Amino acid sequence: MDKVTSSRGDRKVRMQNPSPWQPGQVNPFDLGKPYQPVARPLSLVAEERTPNSLCPLPNQLYQGDSIDVMSAWPDRFFNACVTDPPYNIARNRKGLSWAFSSHVTIDDNWDRFTRSEYENFTAKWLSEICRVTKENGNIFIFGSYHNIYAIGAIAAQMDLRVINSIIWAKPNAQPNITCRMFTESTEQILWLCNNTNKNAKKWTFNYHHMKELNNNKQMRNYWEIPLTPMRERIHGKHPSQKPLKLMERLVLAGTNTGDCVVDCFAGSGSTLLACDRLERNWVGIEQDKTYCNIAHKRIDEERRQRRLFVTTP
Ligand SMILES: C[S@@+](CC[C@H](N)C(=O)[O-])C[C@H]1O[C@@H](n2cnc3c(N)ncnc32)[C@H](O)[C@@H]1O
Repeated sequence: MDKVTSSRGDRKVRMQNPSPWQPGQVNPFDLGKPYQPVARPLSLVAEERTPNSLCPLPNQLYQGDSIDVMSAWPDRFFNACVTDPPYNIARNRKGLSWAFSSHVTIDDNWDRFTRSEYENFTAKWLSEICRVTKENGNIFIFGSYHNIYAIGAIAAQMDLRVINSIIWAKPNAQPNITCRMFTESTEQILWLCNNTNKNAKKWTFNYHHMKELNNNKQMRNYWEIPLTPMRERIHGKHPSQKPLKLMERLVLAGTNTGDCVVDCFAGSGSTLLACDRLERNWVGIEQDKTYCNIAHKRIDEERRQRRLFVTTP
């Protein structure tokens, strides 16, 4: 066995010559070990079950349409939601792009709606998210200027309390090739509390943790975080994959260890992976099989890496 030092500085033991392993397969090296859940499984409280409702299994990614899948789930199941819905920016024309950039443009059918279709779709999934999330649970929704105002207007019609709008600023944003406007270099994260403006209270905010992460100064709602690095895309590319640094900060800010977090537009699984790392339970929904496979590979690889490190007694 080799002695190695982990990123946290404590001494770990790494086993020698792990067997060859492909992402998505069970690592033969792990076969002898009992399965260790990464986070404590959510205890299903009897009264939270409603007849005819199936409880989602913690730490599972469901492939399907998010509104259909959620409709089978009981009320008030999740502690929080972190999600990144379609932006409605795909168009039937080829745009300009930088041949040398790692940026991927969205040109997929899942991101193509008319205005009224988009509003109906948003109202439906957001209502379902409010139903399956506990009262006063946090709901974080990603968007760009293309869609965040439409989502905000629907949240206002539903009388949901807005806690903050967080600005994700990308220091390495792709240059604007047309030179007809400012370079678009931000996205927004709408932070809602699952209750009315009047009644919202006691939402989770790990204030001290955020302050500590920010050199002991109050953290602001302007977060400078670079675009998703290539090393997070080794299992396949998703056109709007979010960086883990950003997802981890959100999960740390708005949830507690052991909470169960839902992402109903899971894509390549960035929310799920951040939760897995930070010992939150997670449940994802994604309709596209290719993206589900990327998410599974990312989570498998993360768990494999974790199992390779065993703390010395
Ligand atoms: C903006 S992307 C999410 C990207 C994700 N945050 C990540 O880091 O990889 C939105 C995802 O929602 C999925 N999607 C769109 N409509 C859906 C629906 N009705 N049900 C389930 N998934 C859907 C798309 O396939 C796409 O992967």
